[in-house]
Amino acid sequence: MSDTAPLDLVHRPRRLRRTPGVRALIRETHVRAEDLIAPLFVVDGEVPPEEIASMPGVFRRSIVDVVRECRELADLGVRAVALFPKLDAGLKRADGAHALDAESLILRTVRAVKAAVPEMLVVADIALDPYTTHGHDGVLTADGKDVDNDKTVAVLARMAVMHAEAGVDWVAPSDMMDGRVGAIRRALDAARHEGVAILAYSAKFNSGYYGPFREAVGSAQAAGTTLLGKQTYQLDPANRIEAVKDALLDETEGADVLMVKPAGPYLDVIRELRDATRLPIAAYQVSGEYAQIHAAARLGWLDLERCREESLLAIKRAGADMILSYFARDIAEARRAGR
Ligand code: PBG
Repeated sequence: MSDTAPLDLVHRPRRLRRTPGVRALIRETHVRAEDLIAPLFVVDGEVPPEEIASMPGVFRRSIVDVVRECRELADLGVRAVALFPKLDAGLKRADGAHALDAESLILRTVRAVKAAVPEMLVVADIALDPYTTHGHDGVLTADGKDVDNDKTVAVLARMAVMHAEAGVDWVAPSDMMDGRVGAIRRALDAARHEGVAILAYSAKFNSGYYGPFREAVGSAQAAGTTLLGKQTYQLDPANRIEAVKDALLDETEGADVLMVKPAGPYLDVIRELRDATRLPIAAYQVSGEYAQIHAAARLGWLDLERCREESLLAIKRAGADMILSYFARDIAEARRAGR
């Protein structure tokens, strides 16, 4: 090998990648435990934790175990959880009436968590899908062919007030009905819950990536199919402009935080929304995104830890301030261990 003369370069970007110290200074994005919201699934009864087949490391837990998990998460530095109930099939109705039962599983869980771990920020979904026999997020129209927007919104507003009474910090309408954020805000304020914030699922797409979640909460079985169609209310995955429009409507109606969901396949939407609003942005790395990384890792095709970090980093880099992720505990444990 003959000596090569150095290139005559003014800029050598590699100078800023030479050592760990340099790279640490140059690093633009960080994922911390406190950026994450851990979704947890709760079931009734004194039952041992049951792992969800397509979501390794994610369990349906009894109330007692959810409380224990919240304590451990708080000690690890995760400051927020999103709670999801899996209802016994016998409690589901076409109109989702159990959603307005003051002793419902989710309300009992919220009370138990807030009593035992008061510093934990508790988020709860406001939507009817865990409660309906058909698995849709609202009550159906008279012909049964669609979800009735305004009837559903009336139920959601009442549901939000009941959640606030139980002690949630944030309500998270995940139904994509028109006008629900405004109606929920008015109902909360009228009931003197001005301090309860609305984390709006604002750009929620009609996604195939919710499959494992529907298995987890039993909303897919309820409908007798895993292909439950929510295309008359959730966004078309093809639409970026419409997604931003819809999210900005939520801002006008009084949302405190706007969410994009799923996260990884919709980074362009997160970025565009970041540029369009000054509200904080949340992104939901959904069950299918989690399952996909685990499945490939199990086959030995992807490195779990690297892809876990990279997937979350990408979501933050796109512009999300906070991420709902099933990896929350893993990340907190890794940070605790100095990784
Ligand atoms: C339902 C709801 C869904 C998720 C959160 N709330 C699924 C759906 O719309 O069918 C999905 C979360 C995930 O896949 O992890 N209101």
